[in-house]
Amino acid sequence: MDTANEVKLQEQYIEKVKKINQNKIPKYTILTMGCQLNENDSEKLCGMLENMGYIQTQDSKEADLALFNTCCVRENAEDKLFGKLGELKRLKEERGIIIAIGGCMMQEKHITDKIKQSYPFVDILFGTHTLHKFPENLYKTIEEKKKLEDIIDINGEIYEGLPIKREGNIKASVTIMNGCNNFCSYCIVPYVRGRERSRMPKDIIYEIEDLAKQGYQEITLLGQNVNSYLRAEHEKGINFGDKEGIHSFATLLKAINKIDGIKRIRFVSPHPKDFTEDVIEAIASCNKVCKLVHLPLQSGNSKVLKEMNRKYTKEQYLALVKQMKEKIPNLTLSTDIIVGFPGETEKEFEDTLDVVRQVKFEQVYMFIYSRRVGTPGDKMENQIPEEQKHKRFDRLKALVESQMQENNQKYVGTVQKVLVEGESKNNKDLLTGRTDSNKVVIFEGSEDLIGKIIDLKIISEHMWYLKGEM
Ligand code: SAH
Ligand code: SF4
Ligand code: F3S
Repeated sequence: MDTANEVKLQEQYIEKVKKINQNKIPKYTILTMGCQLNENDSEKLCGMLENMGYIQTQDSKEADLALFNTCCVRENAEDKLFGKLGELKRLKEERGIIIAIGGCMMQEKHITDKIKQSYPFVDILFGTHTLHKFPENLYKTIEEKKKLEDIIDINGEIYEGLPIKREGNIKASVTIMNGCNNFCSYCIVPYVRGRERSRMPKDIIYEIEDLAKQGYQEITLLGQNVNSYLRAEHEKGINFGDKEGIHSFATLLKAINKIDGIKRIRFVSPHPKDFTEDVIEAIASCNKVCKLVHLPLQSGNSKVLKEMNRKYTKEQYLALVKQMKEKIPNLTLSTDIIVGFPGETEKEFEDTLDVVRQVKFEQVYMFIYSRRVGTPGDKMENQIPEEQKHKRFDRLKALVESQMQENNQKYVGTVQKVLVEGESKNNKDLLTGRTDSNKVVIFEGSEDLIGKIIDLKIISEHMWYLKGEM
């Protein structure tokens, strides 16, 4: 069946479940782990559920359905899932609540085996390639009272036109590609998300035009490797149409930049090895593209980078940063770093500190290396002891925090363009928004500013946020 017909079939299942629910308003909870791609998938699951008559609750005690969208990029997510399942067992026994688990972790056989053995009360297991079939799986669970496992280990298709219920009405995420071809040696993502495949330019543009009509101001383009957008399609000779001359990530940015109503464009994550000149030029020339670029470093040592299969050296990374800083005015950078990769020596770790000192990132997401079953990194013999990894992590963290204070100080006294997002969570009398460089700014102002980009003078810095004034 082609993907359009498959989506139509699922619409029929949505109607069928809706009919079962017609005299009640069942409730669901959803717990989403992992990255923004998973959050975007969860928005689709919520869209399907709400079309089937469900409403969301935060309280699992009153839920009729509990849904988990899992991540497996690091170990702690597993502990979290199994902890929650333990809690839900009682609700299952008392009230027959339906329990469904989907996402990346379900693509790992040792995990689904463990669930089937130790948590046999779980009703639906579904993977990353079968998310669109959730209505059918739910229908069959309710009607036929059967336990379902719907996980395939091939490259899933792209299903356009699934319902979606977005978080918020100012910022929206748009997935532009699925999967990853890079196989960094520490990373599980290529095994659980399959190979790269990009959405067709026309579908992306249509979705963003629609978001603009609904009043969304900021778009974040998502993918595991956004700057290789359409590469796999070029290689396979797939015809992706001729929507506004889009044939690459750079041309996609330029086309989105022209969409009326959209004021800001962000994207995560690009890969340094694919940061071609046309992408740098597009960022520099597109006025709506934010000048904060996430450029995952992972390690600052060339030997470790080689073992990680990152395909760039310390020198190449620094040269890229230099080139970008020259060509993109007001550029700021954020990054991801892993400490304690197998074999990382003290001296090699210091190279990472050195790059952090030199580049002065706006933000650093720091991770302790976590062994992932099935990856080359897991089979390496020279694993670093936990204690050592933690010590290095603390040293990196101390450096990053000291730089952050220094960096925040640079904002004080400047005027920043801030997209106002809403009330501050901690103080309802204040508003919160973000700068182009994604820094949180808290300030006093009236509610009609929400959704607008305004000039704010920064008056003080507080580690995790800045204080501004009109
Ligand atoms: N595709 C993106 C992000 C992938 S996952 C990219 O390449 O940047 C997000 C981050 O998790 C990675 O950038 C990496 O820093 C971290 N990560 C991935 N696998 C990990 C592992 N096994 N242990 C610790 N951190 C890991
Ligand atoms: Fe993982 Fe590397 Fe792919 Fe990112 S680029 S998802 S780190 S394999
Ligand atoms: Fe996690 Fe899957 Fe994202 S493993 S980081 S949720 S792609």
